[in-house]
Amino acid sequence: MGLVVRKMERADAEGFRACLDSVAREGRYLAKEAAPTLERIQAFVDDTVSNNLPQFVAIEDGLVVGWCDAIPYQTKSLSHRAELGMGVLKGHRGKGIGEGLVLATIEHARTIGIKRIDLEVRADNVAAIALYLKTGFREYGRKAKAIFLEGEYHDLIVMEHLDFGP
Ligand SMILES: CC(C)(COP(=O)(O)OP(=O)(O)OC[C@H]1O[C@@H](n2cnc3c(N)ncnc32)[C@H](O)[C@@H]1OP(=O)(O)O)[C@@H](O)C(=O)NCCC(=O)NCCS
Repeated sequence: MGLVVRKMERADAEGFRACLDSVAREGRYLAKEAAPTLERIQAFVDDTVSNNLPQFVAIEDGLVVGWCDAIPYQTKSLSHRAELGMGVLKGHRGKGIGEGLVLATIEHARTIGIKRIDLEVRADNVAAIALYLKTGFREYGRKAKAIFLEGEYHDLIVMEHLDFGP
């Protein structure tokens, strides 16, 4: 069946949740320790699908192996901005899936009038930082000691993508 990167659908909620949960439980990449309940994830996916928001999944042999979304802020004056989040299942990394997901998400964001995408990434997450630089993000700052985990502080790098025209 191979790999497909496509917009998330309502029926993907459970698979998306499992993928998110697995990456969150690795405990070093996301700002959450586990996925929210299926009920909350389903409501989130229903909302993004209804509003045609940029949210993509990678499916390999029927399994959700990655996701990427750029969810716009709800305040009217900030609704041209979105915050990017993503992950690829361990074991499926290093095969171009993440890059395909980010590029699809950025392209869709462009079509709905997004003018700026923000993200935060842990300073030691070299794979994610390299991916973001490759896909047009630029680093514009560092939040020192932004994370405290198992007795250690970690910095966060803040990045922006502004290549959306006027
Ligand atoms: C970051 C992540 C999404 C990358 O996805 P991926 O499918 O493995 O990445 P790809 O195979 O598409 O790689 C695309 C580019 O990313 C960079 N990259 C990916 N893995 C890398 C690694 N281990 N070291 C350095 N650069 C890496 C490279 O620039 C690569 O391009 P290249 O192949 O031409 O060198 C994935 O590692 C992941 O899910 N990590 C855990 C969750 C996470 O960090 N989420 C982001 C939180 S901000």
